[in-house]
Amino acid sequence: MSERSLVLVKPDGVRRGLVGDVIARIERKGLKLAALELRTLEREVAETHYEEHREKPFFGSLVEFITGGPLVAMVVEGPRAIEAFRALAGATDPVAAAPGTIRGDHALEIQENVVHGSDSPASAEREIKLFFPDLF
Ligand code: TYD
Ligand code: MG
Repeated sequence: MSERSLVLVKPDGVRRGLVGDVIARIERKGLKLAALELRTLEREVAETHYEEHREKPFFGSLVEFITGGPLVAMVVEGPRAIEAFRALAGATDPVAAAPGTIRGDHALEIQENVVHGSDSPASAEREIKLFFPDLF
């Protein structure tokens, strides 16, 4: 049974030249790329993507950050792809993220934590439709 997840290399990751490292880890794990695009998000797309956080104190800053430069959006595919990529990414707070994970190896600040990965089948479907409507 194959599953899809939306993965972002956020603007900090693109700026720092971490796209290749993230893709290498995805491919090394055995996940496949089903779509990939470099783009700068419109505010409205960013707000929709993070709508579950709209009432959080960090929402405004998060939207500024995620729209602040080009990011790489991709769809990764494979068995339990959602959970598999979240394991590669590591904990949201990169100081708590285990060394060996993307966030654990590359970041210190919670906002600038290099990658996003969908957290459930429902959010994967919603996020993939938002970024890659033609995939459905
Ligand atoms: P969240 O969905 O909780 O984390 P994840 O990316 O692991 O699914 O939060 C979304 C993003 O919001 C997170 O990657 C970084 C940012 N964020 C903050 O800036 N401050 C915070 O306190 C939290 C919880 C998240
Ligand atoms: Mg999340």
